[in-house]
Amino acid sequence: MFSTAIGLSRQVVKYTMSNTMKQAIKPTACLMPLKAKTGRMFIHQRHLPKLPVPPLQQTLYRYLLSVKPLLSDFDFDTTKKLVDDFGRPGGIGEKLQMGLIERSKKLDNWLSQWWLDHAYLNFREPVIIHSSPAVIFPQQSYTDLDGQLKFAASVVAGILDFKVMVDNQSLPVDKLGGSPLCMYQYYKILSSCRIPGSRKDSIVTHPADGPDPPKHIVVAHNYKFFSLEVYKDGWTPLTRSEIYQQLCDIVNRSQETSAPVGILTAENRNTWGKIYNQMNKDRTNRAIFSEIQRSIFVLCLDEKISSLPKEEFDNEVGRQLLHGGGSELNSGNRWADKTLQFIVGPNGACGLQYEHAPAEGPPIATLLDHTLTYCDNVCEDVAPVDNQLTPAKRLKFNLIPDVKEAIENAKISIDSMIEDLELQIFKFKLFGKDFVKANKLSPDGFIQVALQLAYFKIYGESCATYESASLRRYQLGRTDTIRSCSTDSDLFLRAMADSDKSNSELVRLMRQAVESHKEYTNMAVFGDGIDRHLLGLKLMAIEWGWNVPDLMMDTAYNISTHFKLSTSQVPAKTDSTLTFGPVVPDGFGVCYNPKSKHINFAVSAFNSSPSTSSMTLSLKLTESLAEMQNILVQGSMSAKL
Ligand code: COA
Repeated sequence: MFSTAIGLSRQVVKYTMSNTMKQAIKPTACLMPLKAKTGRMFIHQRHLPKLPVPPLQQTLYRYLLSVKPLLSDFDFDTTKKLVDDFGRPGGIGEKLQMGLIERSKKLDNWLSQWWLDHAYLNFREPVIIHSSPAVIFPQQSYTDLDGQLKFAASVVAGILDFKVMVDNQSLPVDKLGGSPLCMYQYYKILSSCRIPGSRKDSIVTHPADGPDPPKHIVVAHNYKFFSLEVYKDGWTPLTRSEIYQQLCDIVNRSQETSAPVGILTAENRNTWGKIYNQMNKDRTNRAIFSEIQRSIFVLCLDEKISSLPKEEFDNEVGRQLLHGGGSELNSGNRWADKTLQFIVGPNGACGLQYEHAPAEGPPIATLLDHTLTYCDNVCEDVAPVDNQLTPAKRLKFNLIPDVKEAIENAKISIDSMIEDLELQIFKFKLFGKDFVKANKLSPDGFIQVALQLAYFKIYGESCATYESASLRRYQLGRTDTIRSCSTDSDLFLRAMADSDKSNSELVRLMRQAVESHKEYTNMAVFGDGIDRHLLGLKLMAIEWGWNVPDLMMDTAYNISTHFKLSTSQVPAKTDSTLTFGPVVPDGFGVCYNPKSKHINFAVSAFNSSPSTSSMTLSLKLTESLAEMQNILVQGSMSAKL
């Protein structure tokens, strides 16, 4: 263990602030009208604590701990000097900390707007693969177009059923470890849309209690878009049979493909932003954009899927949901700016894609659990079908010449992006979270340590690892980072590579690594994570027009935030799997849904990186989980002898 001049004291430092600094902290607009929400769903909202600003010395100390396994002794000493300098009394760190504390007094959440801008709206890479996750539903039993449309109709009815709970604010409050969570993300997942800008994007939401609430969804088929009213006589939702009838009509009216305008939404954001602004000058296009943005969600009825052997089916569905499979397949049958797109393909292949800016995976998983349960339990409609329903409105874009060229460019871009992505969707069947719990360990920590082991088996070293931790215990909370690579995980990995280590020693080190991960998790979910705090200090400096502090320009900061393993647990009651792309060119995206007796995994990597293969990581992960199980089983057997 290294020594440090920085103590772990939680003592509050008394700060004074210059007037210039005070003026520089401009409160950003509150993200949403907190006071307006008083239903059951928001009953705890006002009582949720505000996200704290962690003590500066605590973060700096923990930052040093976290970079230790990633650095040489020499680099570590350099970083330690920078940390000491940043944190010295009266230094830059204290001044920035004071700025954050002032900001936290003025805003419901000092981080939310910054995070929304930094992580999403200022992000200029395409949202497809680089930001928007997909959720693969369990394969459905339908095999023909009729079955596909019937299932799609049930999905629409199921979402509208869920929407009632959001609209009348009766959705049960989510809990984590018994604590109520912030429910505002639910308010943002329906009727929202990202709007591209030439340098920064924005989001619009049209909630049910706002002016002129939307009553329609948008349906995409053969690259054509239709606006479909899903309520009649005021706010009576269409029955499943009525929705089915309307979908049949849409499919009949769109037998031929159109120019795939939707593919533009998969472009780099600056490129799409510029085309969008051009198209928006045309009245027809402007009205269509508004219709899509205001819609409750988009339903994509997919036509084609490449025929593949059965064992490749899950991977292919994952690809279809994540990016549409390319310009010749379904990539043009999407509107990637839309917060929620439900995708219903042939042969029981279905799921959703969501644009990440307004929400994390767990609220989406709740919506899909409700929808799929609804679909499973759906009864035949008793009410007769209303034959006077208004047919869906075709949304036909005006294709000015520049747009045609932009579509051709977008096709090339998405096809090369898709070519670069390697995806493995698999079920680990040897055990699930019950086995880990029975061994008195955290399943999430166990899986994360197995991931560390898998990576170590391939590369012989540990890497910076990101796991999302929910900050929804706090008002408007989003996420912080659990740095899953720790000194304790590194000790365990090295012990695994050492054939002299006894099983009991391996059990001890494994437990220590898993428990250390759980400690970090608790720290992160209780607002004491280090990544958002360091980001906040950096953004404070930028907001004040200061140079980015040396600490954040240091090699250690770059290495420790170059997350070669970007991971997330998204549990769902249904047997679904969430998937997303890697966040660095030479990294992996790993998502998992731990079930009682098995674990669903999705692993992604880029083919352009010669050093990564999602297939290899998946195999090593499977091997690591099995080895760790074996160590525990052997350990408990010898304990009984
Ligand atoms: N012994 C026995 N059981 C244990 C245990 C132990 N030592 N430690 C944990 N468990 C149990 C828990 O009580 C829980 O039980 P339950 O299934 O009955 O609820 C279960 O094991 C799972 O706990 P654990 O594996 O530790 O994970 P968690 O549920 O606390 O989740 C995170 C951990 C990090 C995933 C969660 O805190 C979080 O932040 N989730 C949100 C992540 C997110 O937003 N992702 C989306 C990004 S798009």
